[in-house]
Amino acid sequence: MQLCVLESCAEVASKAADHIQQAISEKPDSILGLATGSTPIDTYKEIIGRYEQGKIDFSQVRTFNLDEYYGLAADHPQSYHTFMHQQLFQHINVPRERIHIPSGTPIHVQEYCRSYEQFITDCGGIDLQLLGIGSNGHIGFNEPSDQLSADTHLVRLSEATIEANARFFERKEEVPQYAITMGMGTILSAKKILLLALGIEKAEIIRKLFDTGVTTDIPASFLRLHPNVIVLVDREAGSQLVGNIKEFC
Ligand code: F6R
Repeated sequence: MQLCVLESCAEVASKAADHIQQAISEKPDSILGLATGSTPIDTYKEIIGRYEQGKIDFSQVRTFNLDEYYGLAADHPQSYHTFMHQQLFQHINVPRERIHIPSGTPIHVQEYCRSYEQFITDCGGIDLQLLGIGSNGHIGFNEPSDQLSADTHLVRLSEATIEANARFFERKEEVPQYAITMGMGTILSAKKILLLALGIEKAEIIRKLFDTGVTTDIPASFLRLHPNVIVLVDREAGSQLVGNIKEFC
């Protein structure tokens, strides 16, 4: 994993946007894996700005989102469908039919998950996967557990994740308890992975990511097995990093 500690959240967004812009300029039909949550919001703002300046063209790009709350319809105000349209898709020229977000209301869940997974493979796999990280080390909604699932699956959210995501809902009881998420294998199959972390509440998990081994207690630690992972953190998220971890910026 290559680490890059940047001064501010704005610098992380700008650097992340550089990677996305570069991927699309090298391969205009790039397949992007996208995340929701607060972390990528400024990165999305940055790439919207670059699109408006004519620097990025999304017309051939295809996107696959990591996850969606199970039980929320696409038009629910807190669904990840709504989030992605508001934060990114309605502002750029990615064709609607090339946008893929897991359904939160599939009728046959297992069959649906298999088809989402298969479609990613059929499209040639993800070129660049953008990730945030939960304070408990989850990526997508692959929560710490004795075992992790390889493929897209239905998962029960941990109490910590429900607690953390309650800020987006009026009441904690409204946070769905389940989600559909890409699995660890789906994520690790991406050709390149960009993990972003912002703020002091991510400092401890970022330290653990670099100073513990690969463990299902910290799903993000599996990223250490991937040959092309770039971790971009702001000064606060990087504040507990110790020792001589080499930085690449
Ligand atoms: C979102 C996702 C999650 C978030 C993580 C961090 O699609 O997959 O893993 O990246 O929960 O969330 P924020 O960015 O809100 O701290």
